[in-house]
Amino acid sequence: MSFTVPPQAPARPNRCQLFGPGSRPELFEKMAASAADVINLDLEDSVAPGDKAAARQNIILAINEIDWGTKTLSVRINGLDTEFWYRDVVEVLEEAGDRIDLFMIPKAGCAADIYAVDALCSAIETAKGRGKRVGFEVIIETALGFRNVAEIATASPRMQAMSLGAADFAASMGMQTTGIGGTQENYYMLPPKDLDGPRGPVYGDPWHGVTAAIVAACRSAGILPVDGPFGDFSDDEGFRAQARRAATMGMVGKWAIHPKQVALANEVFTPSGKVVAEAREILAAMAAAEAAGQGAAVYKGRLVDLASIRQARVIVRQAELIGG
Ligand code: COA
Ligand code: MG
Repeated sequence: MSFTVPPQAPARPNRCQLFGPGSRPELFEKMAASAADVINLDLEDSVAPGDKAAARQNIILAINEIDWGTKTLSVRINGLDTEFWYRDVVEVLEEAGDRIDLFMIPKAGCAADIYAVDALCSAIETAKGRGKRVGFEVIIETALGFRNVAEIATASPRMQAMSLGAADFAASMGMQTTGIGGTQENYYMLPPKDLDGPRGPVYGDPWHGVTAAIVAACRSAGILPVDGPFGDFSDDEGFRAQARRAATMGMVGKWAIHPKQVALANEVFTPSGKVVAEAREILAAMAAAEAAGQGAAVYKGRLVDLASIRQARVIVRQAELIGG
């Protein structure tokens, strides 16, 4: 290990974040009744400019009156380049009770963006005598955010999570696609020209680079990396594939932009009984090896060593968090 030891990430489940527009209050009770770990009430891009003021009031009422159970409750504010964001923060923090857990800051570009929201929140919390400090989560969805992902992850002690926003990210990077996450038609290679067999496309993952950057920034800052939206909610298998590859890369959960995606995300980001049992067996095998004075052992014909302990602990810890 480095002498720099990363802090622990927040100890709460974050397998699925269900979004709903603040301008559709009829959805709020359904969101509260869903199986999502995190609820994101949106003031940003799913709310038309003329509806922002009403959406704020809908959200304040919902924070105060709906029973959100044990869910993490987050409000997505507007971007810092708009005229809306300061009123989002001021009205919600002045008028909503302590049930709100997080603000989601979209299109985070640099640490100073987070600093600005932090300063405003701190002033309001002190002025209003609020006991609970609101946490932050951000979306990395611009070229600038990608470039500055590490400083954003450590920009404030309020930081808890970071999501990839594929659509805005693609736009900001100038990527030639209108897809929201998932495989892209033109992102492929062909097998070498001289190989035998059919020369069909081999699809790659165009979100791989930024995903790895987000996971590294989060894991070294002690916050949660989350995969963002998958737009085509008629494509369950596409969602599963995208979510599985996010889980494999170290992300803890994924957004749902339609309620039918909640079960899919929970399925992928809940480690299966088999995987958890295997992780516990690896820990037991390593404990036995340690007792025998060995640093490595053989488990099911493969090497396990001290690194395997750390890998297995990630899975067991995830299962414990979800089990409550
Ligand atoms: N949360 C909870 N329930 C929802 C929901 C949501 N986000 N979206 C739809 N529902 C409910 C509907 O009310 C309907 O309920 P019913 O069976 O009791 O009538 C059911 O789920 C099926 O809804 P459906 O008709 O398929 O969807 P829709 O046309 O009403 O809405 C969307 C589709 C995509 C517009 C809507 O899901 C939505 O606004 N999603 C979130 C968008 C968002 O917040 N984007 C910002 C982040 S990218
Ligand atoms: Mg966006």
